[in-house]
Amino acid sequence: MDKVKWLDELARGLCERGWLIFDTTPWLGPELLRALQQEIIVLDQSDALKIAGIGRGSVPVQDRSVRRDKIAWLQGSTPTQAALFEFLEGLRVGLNQRLFLGLKRFEAHYATYHRGDFYKPHVDSFQGRASRIVSLVLYLNDDWQHSDGGALQIYSRENECEVGGLVLPEAGRVALFMSEEIRHEVLEAHRTRYSLACWFRQDVIPLPLSALI
Ligand code: OGA
Ligand code: MN
Repeated sequence: MDKVKWLDELARGLCERGWLIFDTTPWLGPELLRALQQEIIVLDQSDALKIAGIGRGSVPVQDRSVRRDKIAWLQGSTPTQAALFEFLEGLRVGLNQRLFLGLKRFEAHYATYHRGDFYKPHVDSFQGRASRIVSLVLYLNDDWQHSDGGALQIYSRENECEVGGLVLPEAGRVALFMSEEIRHEVLEAHRTRYSLACWFRQDVIPLPLSALI
């Protein structure tokens, strides 16, 4: 599928159902996927990933009963991350052109779930804050089986108790959903699970006061 068709299908899925899954994307070739996999494995092994926080405050609260993944924010500074950011920027522009969402920027982090880790049901943004608008998760695992656990469980937009989809985190697969509307969870993983999450946002980074004077 070419990029324009892929973006059209994405926009339609986000409108009609609020979420959708692609097994492949025209931007992310096997070399880039391999390079992203290598980056997250190195970060994981060098202990560079930190326990993730939750909540709406400016200070993240760490609560291991809610989420147990470890994360590292991407800066776009390596050639691999720069190539990924090109894809994410293309998505931001493509979504704005089709859905008029006014997405201003994106943020992205790697995430590792080790055996026994999970993320309980949640939404990625709080109603009315207009910050995180569209969520994207890219998976980076080879040969993931049902018995490995760690599926992304998506609840339907119309009924937040009804399971709408179950996604195995296989390399190259991407899940996209509306951040405020779609409840989801990561089921307990039985082996190490690598992924990359990204949020497209409507707000801009506030300038420090000194920049305005
Ligand atoms: C998240 C999240 C889903 C996944 O990081 O907020 O819900 O499948 N991730 O990793
Ligand atoms: Mn989430």
